[in-house]
Amino acid sequence: MESTTGTTRKTDILNRKNAEALLGGGKERIESQHKKGKLTARERLELLLDEGSFEEIGKFVMHRSKDFGLDKEHYLGDGVVTGYGTVGGRLVYVFAQDFTVFGGSLSETHAEKICKMMDLAMKNGAPIIGLNDSGGARIQEGVLSLAGYADIFYRNTLASGVIPQISAIMGPCAGGAVYSPAITDFIMMVEQTSYMFVTGPNVVKTVTHEDVTSEELGGAMTHATKSGVTHFVAANEVQCIEYLKQLLSYIPQNCEDEPPMLPYESGDEKRPGLNTIVPDNANQPYDMREIIEELTDEGSFFEVHKYFAENIVVGFARLAGRSIGIVANQPAVLAGVLDINASQKAARFVRFCDSFNIPLLVLEDVPGFLPGTDQEWNAIITNGAKLLYAFCEATVPRVTVITRKAYGGAYDVMNSKHIGADMNYAWPSAEIAVMGASGAAEIIFKREIAQAEDPQAKLQEKIQEYTDKFANPFRAAHRGYIDEVIYPEQTREKLIRAFKMLENKAASLPRKKHGNIPL
Ligand code: HXC
Repeated sequence: MESTTGTTRKTDILNRKNAEALLGGGKERIESQHKKGKLTARERLELLLDEGSFEEIGKFVMHRSKDFGLDKEHYLGDGVVTGYGTVGGRLVYVFAQDFTVFGGSLSETHAEKICKMMDLAMKNGAPIIGLNDSGGARIQEGVLSLAGYADIFYRNTLASGVIPQISAIMGPCAGGAVYSPAITDFIMMVEQTSYMFVTGPNVVKTVTHEDVTSEELGGAMTHATKSGVTHFVAANEVQCIEYLKQLLSYIPQNCEDEPPMLPYESGDEKRPGLNTIVPDNANQPYDMREIIEELTDEGSFFEVHKYFAENIVVGFARLAGRSIGIVANQPAVLAGVLDINASQKAARFVRFCDSFNIPLLVLEDVPGFLPGTDQEWNAIITNGAKLLYAFCEATVPRVTVITRKAYGGAYDVMNSKHIGADMNYAWPSAEIAVMGASGAAEIIFKREIAQAEDPQAKLQEKIQEYTDKFANPFRAAHRGYIDEVIYPEQTREKLIRAFKMLENKAASLPRKKHGNIPL
């Protein structure tokens, strides 16, 4: 009898503690969170993970601080909910910072909980997803909190390229705290309720005398358009979590794993719509996304970094159920020219895909690198080299389709045969040359044109001569730099076959500690 009572009492304690943990910082703070248009850590996890799949780890962890009255203020879980579960049936490790507990600030124990998840994720080869909502270092803890951050940064770096790491920013993320998300593979931000900056508006005002709001300084659209820090912008938290799930559906569990392959029933793969997208006039823009939509499985294109360096388009898609990464020049913006931001954006994406065995498709229409003092002084040389380097070292299956211009150094950089691409196709509209015909004619026939009776007519004649010789894909095809000149409508079928043919590709890099990409 006595033992039953004892047991009952013990389970009562457990029940009480469980209920207490679920409340985080208490009802009032939860309400205040909701009033700001934000969900709680647990509500977010509920949306993210498959129903009933969440296993919490460290629910009763408490901080060990005694300073500034903290010995009298304890919350079970210490401001972060951690554990594992599944998304679409696949294992993920998660941590969700709980703003209702000390503003989600990071203490020594809070950091230990996150590190435990990262260690488990590494050992078991599954993605780690962080839902960030935190006032930064737990101010009362001083260096213990800074140490906790460093422990996380260190693990982020060791995990880079081993398991996918994704950060959703769903509240404040300031100070050195931004550097954990920055090392992860992808950042998502929610409009109006999240921000990221190294120093906030007050410090900015003191140091540089600039007046700027949090939103302007480090809101979602700022980082989507100006800095490129965030890869995705969600209108609200629900959409952000949808993006997380969508992203996961394209990527493998770890670097030894293959990306998920969806069932696909093959049918008529001809896409006549592709025949008319590229205008006859080589200087007329068109939207490369139209080509992407035609080529890939319906509705499967998931664009990354949509609002940053729009002169290049990158994202995931499926081709006959196979997950692929697409890097495409965008003739509709700045004629698809390669500049600093475009090179960085594409290089990072190529490296992610290569780290995680996602084959690469390059769609090329590029007039070259952007000239000018702004670009030169800000190191287009170093930055352009990032993209070149990223392609050169990528060992995943790599296929290129040249739709129109492939000019100058950009021809080499955009996944040419010479830097390791496996299959290179060109459409009949392709122009593979050192530069455009008019520029070329003006330079190499300068004297002849100047001396001609009618210089304008001579120039036109020379432009035509250069066009006939080089503004086509056949010179390159004669050399074998282009494997086949194909009709646009055939492209989808060709790509499906090429990626199937390449699926067992085995390639490796020379033995080294690690390369030295020009950063
Ligand atoms: C301890 C914190 C905290 C922190 C917030 N709180 N930030 N507690 N350490 N860093 C607590 C508040 O005391 C409050 O407690 C609750 O969280 C909610 O905070 P509010 O200020 O009421 O919320 P809000 O008005 O929404 O403002 C959120 C905020 C603000 C903008 C994040 O709290 C803020 O500026 N906090 C300080 C941010 C900061 O300077 N952090 C250190 C950065 S340096 P109660 O009990 O009232 O609910 C850093 C270095 C990292 O992080 C270095 C890594 C290398």
